[in-house]
Amino acid sequence: MKHRIRTALIGQFHRPHGTAGHLAGWIMAHRGSNRRRNHWSVTLLDVQPTDHILEIGFGPGLAIAHLSRHAPHGHIHGIDHSAVMLRHATRRNAAAIRAHRVTLQRATVDHLPAFQQPLDAILTVNTLGFWPHPTQRLTELRDLLKPGGRIAITSQPRTPGADEHTSAQAARDITQHLHDAGYTHIRTHTLDLTPPAVCVLATRP
Ligand SMILES: C[S@@+](CC[C@H](N)C(=O)[O-])C[C@H]1O[C@@H](n2cnc3c(N)ncnc32)[C@H](O)[C@@H]1O
Repeated sequence: MKHRIRTALIGQFHRPHGTAGHLAGWIMAHRGSNRRRNHWSVTLLDVQPTDHILEIGFGPGLAIAHLSRHAPHGHIHGIDHSAVMLRHATRRNAAAIRAHRVTLQRATVDHLPAFQQPLDAILTVNTLGFWPHPTQRLTELRDLLKPGGRIAITSQPRTPGADEHTSAQAARDITQHLHDAGYTHIRTHTLDLTPPAVCVLATRP
């Protein structure tokens, strides 16, 4: 029974839907570690005021809110495949959306919408593990970036029993995907949470 509940909950973090999806969105928006890792990831991305940025899998939209504050003269695009998360993130970022500084869309990472101009940066927090063929996806994303554009991929493993070794392995896996997808200047930062969050940053050559 406990196993079934846990499996159902993990599924909600992959694609939140229905009433349980609203609950998952509320947990993501209010859990201290989730708030900290999103804020930290945006800080590491070194956002400039005119940047055009894409976030993949925005969930309840915490990082979107930080990104739009750091880029008041740029534009923040977000995609997430969950209709429930689109509603949560739209509510959380309503003023910036009305001001045409943020555009949120329901889409999957393997069928991205078109963007009008090359991106300065891409962010994703705790979603890469859900992507089909991550190296291929990261190659497609690389081509959306300007030369010199940055990507930040954060992971805080949430599997039962995850510890600092799980986080370190996640960082190695992300690094390998980024390397295979043709990124350079790949480096890892670690945030002291339980378990630690890792953010792997890289650049389009
Ligand atoms: C664990 S939640 C993390 C949400 C948010 N990034 C955060 O840290 O608060 C994963 C999010 O990624 C979205 N997601 C998962 N796989 C996706 C995919 N293939 N394409 C688009 N969104 C995806 C889910 O709907 C969910 O909102």
